[in-house]
Amino acid sequence: MRFGVLTGGGDCPGLNAVIRAVVRKATRHYGDEVLGFTDGWQGVVERHFRPLDVATMQHTLPQGGTVLGTSRYNPFKVDGAVDEVFTSLKDNELDGLIVIGGEGTLSCANEFSQRGLPVVGVPKTIDNDIGVTERTFGFDTAVSIATEAIDRLRTTAESHNRVMVVEVMGRHVGHIATWSGIAGGATATLIPEEPFDIDSVCQALEARHEGGRYASLIVVAEGAKPVAGTMNIPEDTYDEFGHVRLGGISHRVADEIEKRTGIETRVTILGYVQRGGTPTAFDRVLSTRYGVAAIDAARDGAWGSMVALRSDEIVRVPLSDAVADLKGVSPQLWDVAQQFFA
Ligand code: F6P
Repeated sequence: MRFGVLTGGGDCPGLNAVIRAVVRKATRHYGDEVLGFTDGWQGVVERHFRPLDVATMQHTLPQGGTVLGTSRYNPFKVDGAVDEVFTSLKDNELDGLIVIGGEGTLSCANEFSQRGLPVVGVPKTIDNDIGVTERTFGFDTAVSIATEAIDRLRTTAESHNRVMVVEVMGRHVGHIATWSGIAGGATATLIPEEPFDIDSVCQALEARHEGGRYASLIVVAEGAKPVAGTMNIPEDTYDEFGHVRLGGISHRVADEIEKRTGIETRVTILGYVQRGGTPTAFDRVLSTRYGVAAIDAARDGAWGSMVALRSDEIVRVPLSDAVADLKGVSPQLWDVAQQFFA
């Protein structure tokens, strides 16, 4: 059989490990062929692809990024592109497509699946916000990077008796913020799911810093929002998928903290550092498991499904369920995080 594979949306540590696993099991175990499309859905539409085999995937397991390239190209927003996807698969005599992506890319996969395209999804994103899977690959790496950064910021904060505001990724959900906040001992963590009250944050900081040296670390998810009407924040802009483009809330938070408390406050926006570089061992293993499970699902003709992690087992779930709702931070974990604030 012949299968296509693509990586779409923002890049993420572990993408190459998934592709490598797909190729390995497809070619060595099933004797199948794999075509890699470049730059996500755009490669399918524009017929940019190359054959992948075990040799071409050598040395890629620890490599960050994606050897296939990626883009936020949305075929449902380009004239004629949806039909091109169907003809591209037909012309290349492909039996199905493995789509490795986050919410935007998988929503396209789901839409195509509803129209009869044979697709299997693999959940990718450092944000860990895909529903029905307990973990997306890349998340563990991002949390490790953010935690290391917080540890480093703490020593400089302590030396200068400052508040450090650290902005991490997380458009709609605060998984990276919550996990790295707990792991790094954050004074407070601000996440999109829970609008924050800048008054309470400042009061807690004042109490903490009263009468002595005391460094504080505030972890802010990029999508964190203040309680309505309590602070001015800039207007959002949007990408091809209609996703809000963020970045900068930490400066607003820091300005307010300094203005209200008088405590010297500095900002660090971790940004794309969280997405780059080598995946952790956990992400390499999870990605490898996902890749193997994805080609097994394709071989079984389990079209319209996505591989997912549930109770440490890889299972198949309907793509439509996976893209129905974003997964937020659980109340239980948020409660744990809050116990250590201020
Ligand atoms: O991969 C998800 C994500 O990291 C979000 O947290 C972030 O808002 C977004 O990607 C930004 O990526 P880009 O600038 O590549 O669109």
